[in-house]
Amino acid sequence: MVTTEKKPLKLLIVEDDSGLQSQLRWCFDGYDILQATDRASAISQVRRQKPQLVTLDLGLPPDPANATEGLALLEEILAMAPDTKIIVVTGNDDRAHALQAISLGAYDFYIKPVDADTLRLIVDRAAHLFQIEAENRKLARQNASPLHGLITADPAMLKLCRMIERVAPSDATVLLLGESGTGKEVLARALHELSPRRKGPFVAINCAAIPENLLESELFGYEKGAFTGATRQTIGKIEHANNGTLFLDETGDLPMSLQAKLLRFLQERVVERLGGRAEIPVDIRIVGATNKDLEQMIKDGDFREDLFYRISEIAINIPPLRERQGDRSLIAHALLDRFRQDQRKTNRLSFSTDALRAIEAYDWPGNVREMENLIRRAVIMAEGNRIEADDLGIGMPEDAAEETVGLREIRDAAEQEAIIKAMSRCNNNIAQAAELLGITRPTLYNLLDKYGFRQSTP
Ligand SMILES: Nc1ncnc2c1ncn2[C@@H]1O[C@H](COP(=O)(O)OP(=O)(O)OP(=O)(O)O)[C@@H](O)[C@H]1O
Ligand SMILES: [Mg+2]
Repeated sequence: MVTTEKKPLKLLIVEDDSGLQSQLRWCFDGYDILQATDRASAISQVRRQKPQLVTLDLGLPPDPANATEGLALLEEILAMAPDTKIIVVTGNDDRAHALQAISLGAYDFYIKPVDADTLRLIVDRAAHLFQIEAENRKLARQNASPLHGLITADPAMLKLCRMIERVAPSDATVLLLGESGTGKEVLARALHELSPRRKGPFVAINCAAIPENLLESELFGYEKGAFTGATRQTIGKIEHANNGTLFLDETGDLPMSLQAKLLRFLQERVVERLGGRAEIPVDIRIVGATNKDLEQMIKDGDFREDLFYRISEIAINIPPLRERQGDRSLIAHALLDRFRQDQRKTNRLSFSTDALRAIEAYDWPGNVREMENLIRRAVIMAEGNRIEADDLGIGMPEDAAEETVGLREIRDAAEQEAIIKAMSRCNNNIAQAAELLGITRPTLYNLLDKYGFRQSTP
């Protein structure tokens, strides 16, 4: 399992001691081995060969007793190729620099003397993680997603996508509940596209954006002369959506007077235009969306309970981005790819390790919409090849900065993320996920138990 598309992964060994160099070479059988003995030769190898993995001795010439050269090289490699997994190798008395290397973005560290089996294990794990991440980036790039326009690897979101697929063929009303920017409209469109109504129109109306006195004529239409200014017959959104889907966005903002009218329409399935007398039959499916707590509004007398039940035959709760596992960096990479193309920016424009950490640590109150805005702006403003945390304008919470030096936490988090991705990729099939991760089934079971994933991943 050290290959990518059948080609062996490239491992660059940066080590100035020639004896150790050949010893290391010997223990990494199965990798395509590259070698460098100092900073300059390492940089040129990275530039030409693009190794996926690097073991890096921090003590490099001209002053092997000092880690400065090694740490500088680490930063340089990550700036050129941020996806590279770098395992730092240090002397016995140099834990502090090893930790510093981790906080600069190294994958792991290893303290001499070299034990071939242990080092091999660390490199193999880095290789697996690299492959899973590469696979993820590929999927995101191909826009491979469970539903059109939607990128996610989060188990709860994937479950929700399957639910959308199941209810799409029916005419059941669907109410999408979620914070601003969580993808309510994306899901509403996906529902329409997956339904037998896909050839019909998808008509959206934002109940919060239209003043109460105009909303009624927008929805139901009017006859010429129905009111001052009604100079010609106008068809409403409901009629426009005939044979298709009507997306009632911000359903919670529907004024009381219109709630009653909408309920009547849902019961009788005919509209009467304002100032008209004819009852016009209309065949539509209604999909609603809101970020308001409708049940509380019902208690407060602001939303009709009978209408609520009519429009929420299926209610779907969309989790906010901060609760999704692995989605923050997955979606961020996909958005970066997209805006980079839109702006015709160099393909080398990428997030710095710090920027990715900030993306992972930030709460995203505005969810994917906020992320879109920040990344679009950062891509437009970017001068070099790197987007830094500062360019995104999101700070790192203090605890996240602390967390990054705890090696155990970093490993656990990476492990959890890899497991979740593998499990969702394989639709929770343990055997396949174990294979993808390169571990045995019992080991995967143990890990699932360790992280408490068993109940939630049946
Ligand atoms: N999972 C996702 N993957 C990729 N893009 C997404 C995802 N979710 C949302 N988006 C994008 O984020 C933006 C906001 O999504 P959308 O308009 O569907 O959110 P919303 O819940 O309707 O928000 P609001 O409540 O603010 O209207 C859109 O440009 C959408 O394409
Ligand atoms: Mg919306």
